Amino acid sequence: MYYPDEIIEEVRARNNIVDVISEHVRLQKKGSTYFGLCPFHNEKTPSFGVTPSKQMFYCFGCGAGGNVISFLMQYENATFSEAVKMLADRAGIKLPEVEMSAEMKKAANEKQLLLEINKEAAKYFYYALRSPAGKHGYEYFKGRQLTDDTMKSWGLGYSNMYSDDLVKYLRSKGYKDEMIVKSGLASHDEKHGTHDKFWNRVMFPIQDINHRVIGFGGRVMGEGEPKYLNSPETPVFDKSRNLYGLNFARSSKKGHMILCEGYMDVIAMHQAGFNEAVASLGTAFTSGQANILKRFTQDVILSYDSDGAGTKAAIRAIGILRENGLSGRVLDLKPYKDPDEFIKNLGKEEFEKRIANARNSFYFEIDVLSRNFDLSDPDGKTRFHKEIAGKLCSFADDVERNNYLEGICREYSVNPESMRKLVGTVVAQTGLIKPLKPRPLPTDNKKNAPEEGLKTAQRILITWLSEEPEIYPKISEYISPSDFTDELYAKVAKKVITGIENANLIPASIISEFEDEEEQKIVASMFNTGISGPEGNIIENGSKLDREHALKEILIKVKENSYEYNSKKLSSDVAALDDVIKGKKQLERLRGIQITLDK
Ligand code: UTP
Ligand code: MN
Repeated sequence: MYYPDEIIEEVRARNNIVDVISEHVRLQKKGSTYFGLCPFHNEKTPSFGVTPSKQMFYCFGCGAGGNVISFLMQYENATFSEAVKMLADRAGIKLPEVEMSAEMKKAANEKQLLLEINKEAAKYFYYALRSPAGKHGYEYFKGRQLTDDTMKSWGLGYSNMYSDDLVKYLRSKGYKDEMIVKSGLASHDEKHGTHDKFWNRVMFPIQDINHRVIGFGGRVMGEGEPKYLNSPETPVFDKSRNLYGLNFARSSKKGHMILCEGYMDVIAMHQAGFNEAVASLGTAFTSGQANILKRFTQDVILSYDSDGAGTKAAIRAIGILRENGLSGRVLDLKPYKDPDEFIKNLGKEEFEKRIANARNSFYFEIDVLSRNFDLSDPDGKTRFHKEIAGKLCSFADDVERNNYLEGICREYSVNPESMRKLVGTVVAQTGLIKPLKPRPLPTDNKKNAPEEGLKTAQRILITWLSEEPEIYPKISEYISPSDFTDELYAKVAKKVITGIENANLIPASIISEFEDEEEQKIVASMFNTGISGPEGNIIENGSKLDREHALKEILIKVKENSYEYNSKKLSSDVAALDDVIKGKKQLERLRGIQITLDK
């Protein structure tokens, strides 16, 4: 751990989670919990809860959760120490200076090291561009009309002709080959050893929202394949959750964001004063990126290349924006290919006009669709109109659908009444208005795996114990941390039980003992699992009888599972025999008793 535990706990305790989260999410109080729309996935009804008594947040929709430190880690994409630093600043707590000894360096987590390596590499490329050997790269950027200031603020750089000098430099800074390879800046093979990934290219460092370098794009100077080479995904470089330029665009006050395709487009736009431009990272636009944009605006203007590939990508991006509740508009760049060329040729005033006239994305889609039909042919025209009717069906809202219908009919000189009939026919054929595609649950959500069912019982027990420590003495003879069959669960159960025994249980502080974001989410779920009954959560609202019954059932389930688990281990681990025998006795006793809970 970077900072002493007591300091971390002080920082956590002095930042009320409700206040901190309210700075980013609109929360509304309902009973003892505050609810809001989850900032980590798209939703229309709030399933994101913040509980002041626990100083924790938890989303029942996507499983995001943790304490105030975890929130900043997840929201700002920060490491554990960075989140602690932000919160310390917020609360006016002075953190002790941490001198990184060799030992601490080793212990510092992997993400931290990877960020350092990226930062060192960015500096290396940056100075190379400004050295005599980097003249070629510097001339290239000049040729593309970038000013010195622009090159500086984007940290542009140059990787030279040699394919081992960056590796040598990073080694000289004390980084091990294994980490250098893991950072994506080098590869390793038998023949060449560890060698640089990027050489003889101009370099674009990719920064996350907090200006930390997380990867690179490198472009050939002139013609060559591939035109751009990009860092692979690494533990610090998630291409689906970062956007190029967002570190600057986040503070633009334009009220909209411009989404474009390339690094050069973003830089050219910012240089011309359009500091609201961002781009995806050499990959298609994702739902994760849409959700991040949504924190800043509802209005996303697409500025993709005007060629076939760009149009296709734009149509795909429009769908993703819509699925995530954002409205898209599309810039017309004709007769130029991309925003970079457009601004160079027609200037920023003209670009400004195009922004003001950006078309609603639905009109854009219909326009693209129209190119597939021969509208001078009655047959083609009919098929086109049917297609429009089909598209109109995607608007579930009557008023919205009608407005689009009328607008489109005006544009293509169609009689609105016949279009309305056509829509009616399509609806009759397909049954109903096509609902918006529901967002699939995140892939790391394993709630349905069979062992998850067993873990649910363990989670319920941990939640119950933490909310109602008084029950512990009644059940302590039956249950111990070793009944929790997953290592992480057992660790948390042990901390909870110790906390109860010492009368100082603070679930939120248990969470900060885990530096890994994924672990924090799992731990948060252990403190936020209820049993739903007719009256809501049985633990909180059930009758005395129901609660007693439920507690016994949960205990039996947890015990049965641990008994089975230990029995399976017997063949390889004789020491488990004691546990098995003891567990069996406890289980038998448990089945025969009646637990009494007096509220
Ligand atoms: P473009 O080819 O449109 O890039 O690809 P650009 O920014 O206009 O390039 P210039 O103006 O010729 O320098 C758009 C984006 O697609 C990714 C890059 O992220 C690029 O910015 N790309 C493109 C690659 O990752 N690899 C490639 O080989 C080409
Ligand atoms: Mn270009």
